[in-house]
Amino acid sequence: MNDPIPTFEVAVLGATGRVGQEYLGILKDHPWFKVVEVTGNTKIGQKLGDVVENLPSPMSSLEIKESNPSKIESRLVFSPLPTDIAKQVESNFSRAGFSVITDASPHRMDQDVPLMIPEVNPEHLGMLRKNFTGDHHLPPKSKKKGFIVATPNCTTIGLAMTLKPLHVAYNVSKVVMTSFQALSGAGYPGVPSLDIEDNVIPFIDGEEEKVAKETNKLLGTYDEKENAFKPSSIEIYCSCNRVAVIDGHLESVYLEAKDRISDPESVLSNFKSIPQKLKLPSAPERPIVVMKEKNRPQPRLDRMVGNGMSTVVGRIRQDNEKALQYHLLTHNTIRGAAGGAILTAELLCKIFDGII
Ligand SMILES: NC(=O)c1ccc[n+]([C@@H]2O[C@H](COP(=O)([O-])OP(=O)(O)OC[C@H]3O[C@@H](n4cnc5c(N)ncnc54)[C@H](OP(=O)(O)O)[C@@H]3O)[C@@H](O)[C@H]2O)c1
Repeated sequence: MNDPIPTFEVAVLGATGRVGQEYLGILKDHPWFKVVEVTGNTKIGQKLGDVVENLPSPMSSLEIKESNPSKIESRLVFSPLPTDIAKQVESNFSRAGFSVITDASPHRMDQDVPLMIPEVNPEHLGMLRKNFTGDHHLPPKSKKKGFIVATPNCTTIGLAMTLKPLHVAYNVSKVVMTSFQALSGAGYPGVPSLDIEDNVIPFIDGEEEKVAKETNKLLGTYDEKENAFKPSSIEIYCSCNRVAVIDGHLESVYLEAKDRISDPESVLSNFKSIPQKLKLPSAPERPIVVMKEKNRPQPRLDRMVGNGMSTVVGRIRQDNEKALQYHLLTHNTIRGAAGGAILTAELLCKIFDGII
């Protein structure tokens, strides 16, 4: 590993949005990344500090720019842009030589885009190494070629995080998941208060299909010879609901496995991966924290476990030797978006020193 990591100057596109502001909060004290450029839509030309509250002075004086590659200098770009514009804007940045890490959905299933949860599938970054250099040597620092790396849907993350160690241990064949998703998952201005007060909305457009497809991409392999991702073939059925919680997606999971399931609690709580081994700045000590109390996890009480980067599991129940039930909770704007993308960028910097 190459040490020490230099400071990277970064840009946050859509910095005034719900996820964009989460980036600003996390990055204001980050040891490797310094936000030097931000973009927006309706507030272009204004000072960031006039639009977003509680920022430290160097950040608050940044001018909000247009999301256009010709206006941006930083090579590393975080993109929490809305779905409808992310596809084109991110392609523009990638083609212009930028390293783009996106929270938006349009590029997640692209053949040449790694979809990343650093603890789940770090080996998928092998595709960047291959595409970047054509062989397995690190590129010289001066050589710049753009790429896109995507983070999964905020509902996919906790599910894939918990399925990873369970799939390795027991060969999971079928999953049925029901979600209870927070309001912040819908961004600003989000769901009208009169629709969600005293209510649950049993539909989130496109979410169920995304979670199923993305989970199989994440749990699949990267075939180096073919330079292609091979998805796993777990049967996944999802029902997604919007509930009146501010932050934190709760999910209830039922799964069946091909192998006998024994001691799933230890398998989940002992799970550690490359980010923990590398001691990356945003890596939680435990990616999965198991709670033994009967009535946990709860969004209000448990979403900040591991600084919002751990997936919290509880209510583990086993009715037969090849089936399991549990609940999980993930902070949707931290691990589910900004925090997950920053951890991905840390992994990129550490293992491909110089790629960004
Ligand atoms: N919220 C979550 O929990 C979550 C989790 C995972 C992934 N995501 C994904 O992350 C992305 C952002 O979500 P969000 O919840 O932060 O949305 P949001 O609150 O609606 O924020 C969107 C941001 O994009 C900017 N923007 C809008 N149109 C633009 C344009 N044409 N050019 C440049 N900037 C533009 C907005 O600027 P103005 O303020 O000027 O309008 C704002 O800063 C979405 O793709 C979403 O699916 C969200």
